[in-house]
This record gives sequence, structure tokens and C-alpha cells, in this order.
Amino acid sequence: MKKIRATITAIGKYAPERILNNYELEKMVDTSDEWIRARTGIFERHIAAKGEASSDMASAAFEDMQSRFKVDPEEIDLIIVATITPDMFFPSTAAIIQHNIGATNAFGFDISAACSGFVYALAIAAEFIENGRYKKVLVVGSDIMSSLTDYTNRDTCILFGDAASVALLEPTMQDNGILDYIMKMDGKGKDYLYVAAGGSKNPATHETIDKKMHYIYQEGKTVFKFAVSKMAEVSVDLLKRNSFKSKDIEMFIPHQANKRIIDACVSRLKLKDEQVMINIDKYANTTAATIPLGIVDAYDQGRLKKGDLLLMSAFGGGFTWGSVLMKWSL
Ligand code: UT7
Repeated sequence: MKKIRATITAIGKYAPERILNNYELEKMVDTSDEWIRARTGIFERHIAAKGEASSDMASAAFEDMQSRFKVDPEEIDLIIVATITPDMFFPSTAAIIQHNIGATNAFGFDISAACSGFVYALAIAAEFIENGRYKKVLVVGSDIMSSLTDYTNRDTCILFGDAASVALLEPTMQDNGILDYIMKMDGKGKDYLYVAAGGSKNPATHETIDKKMHYIYQEGKTVFKFAVSKMAEVSVDLLKRNSFKSKDIEMFIPHQANKRIIDACVSRLKLKDEQVMINIDKYANTTAATIPLGIVDAYDQGRLKKGDLLLMSAFGGGFTWGSVLMKWSL
């Protein structure tokens, strides 16, 4: 019997209007456009307006999806939102998005897997579809990283941006869609990339605010090394167990945290430039949104075509990491 697979049938994206480029950052902290470009590949990033929340960005990305594809919100069964910047602790961002877009028949939840959030969410969505229980799953990657960023700290403020992107997954009996995935986690990574306060361990107090504990902290060099080795390792394993070689990949969409991380992965995977999507220069690191933004941009640029073998790979806080292999069907 033929296997039901999950495939992406519609996509959309949103980035806030305000753009913060490297020259403006030069005026805010002791940095330079030259350093940022050379060390990260980033030139500009979008920043959410005051009062704009992750659910607003996701709802705007859904509107973009509706302007491109015929999607009836009432037919959506499930909404999975990958975010580390939910609107509030509760209700879930998924519930707010459900209300905003009129997906009245959907249930949903948020998942917290930092930069790996979108690939984790794809894996979860695939399981719900493959077991035949649900037919339309909206997967969202949305993060307002500017809400966790200390714009007086040059170590981190140059790295992040805000954006949302969405993908609709549906069943297919064709030879396409999500072929396989591998997801990983190592909790030792908790010490190297985190926001210390605001949760149950360190609830917000005047002291936590004074100590800037609500901002993102990362030990850049450690995270860098893990990101390169783990993204490459999990991608090699995934290709191998599906009997594919690097040359079979038409498009590799890696998480966009640092162009040097991407270059190192690409070299370990023995890929050519034309096989790789890079848009970190325009958006910086948008956490859960980087991979779906890469999908939409590659599709818009005609670089992702029906039948293409697509490899996605991410690494982030936790540590979490994972890769998804799919045959593109749009
Ligand atoms: O998506 C979640 C996962 N996150 C990541 O994957 C990020 C991983 N890490 C990185 O991307 C890199 O480690 C960074 C971009 C964060 C830092 O790059 P680096 O090459 O590791 O630089 P570094 O921290 O070793 O700093 C090198 C130098 C230092 O000066 P000295 O000690 O050599 O005099 C820093 O003080 O660069 C200095 N520096 C800066 N200079 C100008 C650090 N940040 C800046 C800056 N502008 N913004």
C-alpha cells in the first residue's frame, strides 16, 4: 500500500517594515559594517513596531499566503507555532493566531525549540498527517528577537531580526513531500544560549531587570562550533539513510545564524553555492522564521521547483538541532 506523506501546499512570509542596517548599529554600539559583514554575513534586519507581537506577524504571513494560494482558514485542523517569543506565557500564540485568521475549527499549540523550532514543527505536523488523523496543518515560525535583544550589547544586538513565515501541510499519495527527518537535543547546551529571567526559575523582579537578565545571552564561539558539527552530522546521516548523495540535493536551506556557519556546513556536505539558499544578509537571525523565509525566497526566485530534493537543517538553543528531507511539490 502507498504511504501517506505530508507535503507543503502553500507558503507565506512577513517581515516588519522597519529595517535596521549595519550603519545604524555603528551609531548605537562600538561595531562596524565591515566587522558585521565579515564575521556574520548580515547587512540588515527587520524590526517589529512597538506593540507588534509574534501572532501579528504570523497572521500577516498567513495573509500573504492567502494572497498567493487558495487557503480556507476554516479547513485548517491544527496550528503549530514555533516561537521563543510568544505574545504571552499563555494563552498560546497558536490560540491568538487561530482567532486572528478565523481558523475556527483548528486546535493548536506552541513549541519551544529556538532556532530548530520550524524543523521540529514540520516533523510533528508530518506525523499528524501521515497517521491519517488530520488533513491541513498550519506550521508557523515567528519570532520577535528584538524583544529579547539588548541594543547596548554588541555581542548580540547585531545578530538578530524579526520575521514570520508560514507553511500549510497536507497529505499526498504522490512520490513527494516529507521523506524523512532526524531531530536531536542535548540539554548540556542550556548553559551556552539562554534568556535567564522571566520564567519560573527567575521570575521578573526589579533586580532581574537591572541585571539585564531578560536579554539573550550566548557564548558565541561554543554555539558556533556545535552548530557547524551538528547540522552537518545530522544532514549526512539523513542523506545516508535515504540513499542520497550531496549531488542529489537541489536546494539546501540551512538555519541562518551566521554565514560562516553556513559556509562551514556547506563545505562539510560538499555542496556547491548554487545548491544553497542564503538570505541572512537581508533578515539576520530570525530564529524559528529563518528556514520558512528561505523556502519562500527560494520559491519566489525560481530556485525551488516541483520535484526538487530539498534539505533543511537547523541548530539552536537547548541545544536542539535537526534536518528534514523533502521532495518539493509546489
Ligand atoms: O541561532 C542560534 C545559534 N547562534 C549562533 O549560531 C551564533 C553562533 N556564534 C556566532 O555566530 C559568532 O560566535 C559571533 C558572530 C557571535 C561572534 O563571532 P566570533 O568570530 O566568534 O567573534 P568573537 O566573539 O570571538 O570576537 C572576536 C573579536 C573580539 O575582540 P578581541 O577580543 O579579539 O579584541 C570581540 O570583542 O571581535 C569583537 N567583537 C566585535 N567587534 C565589533 C565582538 N562583537 C563585535 C561587534 N563588532 N559586534
